[in-house]
Amino acid sequence: MLDLKSKLPSAGTTIFTVMSRMAAEHGAINLSQGFPDFDGPQALRDRLTWHLNNGHNQYAPLAGVPDLRQQIAAKIHALYGRAVNPDTEVTITPGATEAIFCAVTAVVHPGDEVIVFDPCYDTYEPSVSLNGGITRHITTRYPDFRIDWDEVAAAINDRTRMIMLNSPQNPCGKVWGEEDIAGLRRVIAGRKIWLLADEVYEHMVFDGQSHLSLLRYEDLAARTFAVYSFGKTFHATGWRIGYCVAPAAMTAEFLRIHQFINFSTNTPMQYALADFLKDEPGFHNTLAAFFQRKRDLFGSLLQGSRFGMQPSSGTYFQLADYSAISDEADTAFAARLTREHGVAVIPVSVFYAAPPEQHIVRFCFAKGDDTLRNAAERIRGI
Ligand SMILES: Cc1ncc(COP(=O)(O)O)c(C=O)c1O
Repeated sequence: MLDLKSKLPSAGTTIFTVMSRMAAEHGAINLSQGFPDFDGPQALRDRLTWHLNNGHNQYAPLAGVPDLRQQIAAKIHALYGRAVNPDTEVTITPGATEAIFCAVTAVVHPGDEVIVFDPCYDTYEPSVSLNGGITRHITTRYPDFRIDWDEVAAAINDRTRMIMLNSPQNPCGKVWGEEDIAGLRRVIAGRKIWLLADEVYEHMVFDGQSHLSLLRYEDLAARTFAVYSFGKTFHATGWRIGYCVAPAAMTAEFLRIHQFINFSTNTPMQYALADFLKDEPGFHNTLAAFFQRKRDLFGSLLQGSRFGMQPSSGTYFQLADYSAISDEADTAFAARLTREHGVAVIPVSVFYAAPPEQHIVRFCFAKGDDTLRNAAERIRGI
């Protein structure tokens, strides 16, 4: 018998798959996994069909279609004031997920340490582990998820190779402020530490706040792999397309990895996105208001219920404190909500290495208004 020794022995089926499956089994409204139940712009889909039918079906260049890289550079300049070279500093990837893996693989060697802020996205630690690295988790807590920068400073040592940051942050909806940027600067001063800025929710920042992309800051951008997702921005998570922006030397190393994982990213979508970004460069500016209205609708529908809901500052997720309803563990509560009340959610403990004592679940509000109304109707009274 061959001995298949797993490199990820503790990784099971992700909670997103588990909850989506449970939602389907019980006919529940699925507010668990993070994807919209509506499509992106018709004009973008029309451009895709056009390119599919007009000969753009072969391998794209390793770093991506030049036209799309140019559009991305223009967008970054307009949004974050940084001039990035589309030829040497932008890579189109099959989603942010692959970009995260390539960035980590580019810099993390066996025994290196990587700092993440829990609750954090579930691909971070496996990306580190598969490269022989060790993940150091800094725990932040409901309701404000404040980072204790002294704790971060104490966790840093000579083996610390990377810090992974996510703003706006999934699952908690935290949006970084200048105090976080100052804290980050302080702890990396004089250290050779790379940064991975996961900014896939860059356009979903609410209540008039700004997204503090690390690309805004010269000193931080110089050591940052910043990753983005067209899937999030264009309501098309199934398209599997995103990009990474990093200084030329870092991009060169990133490309060395990317070429042996995916080689390049699907061609017709790149052409379609390039056209759409050129034709409608303001589309992403509509997203904050679009999702804020959904957040507020869902919040108002659950007002007066026993769910405690402090409005999310960013992403398309809303946390709810159910401690007034039950003291069961969040995984049990999420399963019961799905089975008995017909609404699937994500228990927040799964985003922690060492979950603190809290009773929080995550709703995804990237859903049609009627879906949100029906879901709220089902759980308002419990
Ligand atoms: C924080 C975060 N990073 C990265 C991703 C992955 O993005 P993509 O679908 O483009 O791979 C997600 C998707 O949910 C996410 O929430």
